[in-house]
Amino acid sequence: MQSQSRQVSSQQEGLHEGLDKVVRRHLGAAFRRPVAAHTQAAFDRVAAWLALHPRPFILDACCGVGDSSRALAELNPDHLVVGVDKSADRLGRERTRPAPDNLLLVRADLNDFYRLAEAARWRPAKHFILYPNPWPKPAHLKRRWHGAPVFPSIIALGGALELRSNWDIYLREFAAALAIAGHDSRLESFEATDPITPFERKYRDSGHTLWRLTADLGK
Ligand SMILES: C[S@@+](CC[C@H](N)C(=O)[O-])C[C@H]1O[C@@H](n2cnc3c(N)ncnc32)[C@H](O)[C@@H]1O
Repeated sequence: MQSQSRQVSSQQEGLHEGLDKVVRRHLGAAFRRPVAAHTQAAFDRVAAWLALHPRPFILDACCGVGDSSRALAELNPDHLVVGVDKSADRLGRERTRPAPDNLLLVRADLNDFYRLAEAARWRPAKHFILYPNPWPKPAHLKRRWHGAPVFPSIIALGGALELRSNWDIYLREFAAALAIAGHDSRLESFEATDPITPFERKYRDSGHTLWRLTADLGK
């Protein structure tokens, strides 16, 4: 049966008019909110795991139930894969299945986790943010990752960054924010013949156009 997921509906027809100002402000100021204890503990756990197995690693941010993290771990047996999501409920669904030994899923708030990763000079080989919450209301610009105070930490990690969304404006804004920070990126639509996340499957089955933004943020 055809899935009936609705297209993202927003009053925005193009880039948010406040984007430039918000991004520049965040690039020029440190984000000092205290780190939540549960995220510090999750980060410490991941750091210890990475130190035990010195291999290149892939960060799957906003991994939801972890399907994409699992797929990445199976596709990249020579890499470690770290899946991070703030939802214990979503992560709990994946934990009922045995995980490949190169995969670790943790519950953490990425607003904190990214800053800890930057401070520890982490350099993921690849960094995925697949189908982030779109926050389509213009008033919610600062909840989108490129409008958030943590954006500078996201790009400081370097590596090959890939975002996917069914809302092209989100990715066009992210690309504009990257450009303000001095990074090129590439936006394209693609066919998800073999979806790797539940949201990708849902949107594909609903006939939405899927978009992907890629950027090489260096080492
Ligand atoms: C739309 S879902 C996409 C999940 C998955 N990537 C997929 O495609 O199926 C967005 C995910 O981002 C997670 N998320 C949102 N804000 C977060 C934050 N600050 N820290 C960690 N995870 C967050 C949510 O819990 C949710 O699982």
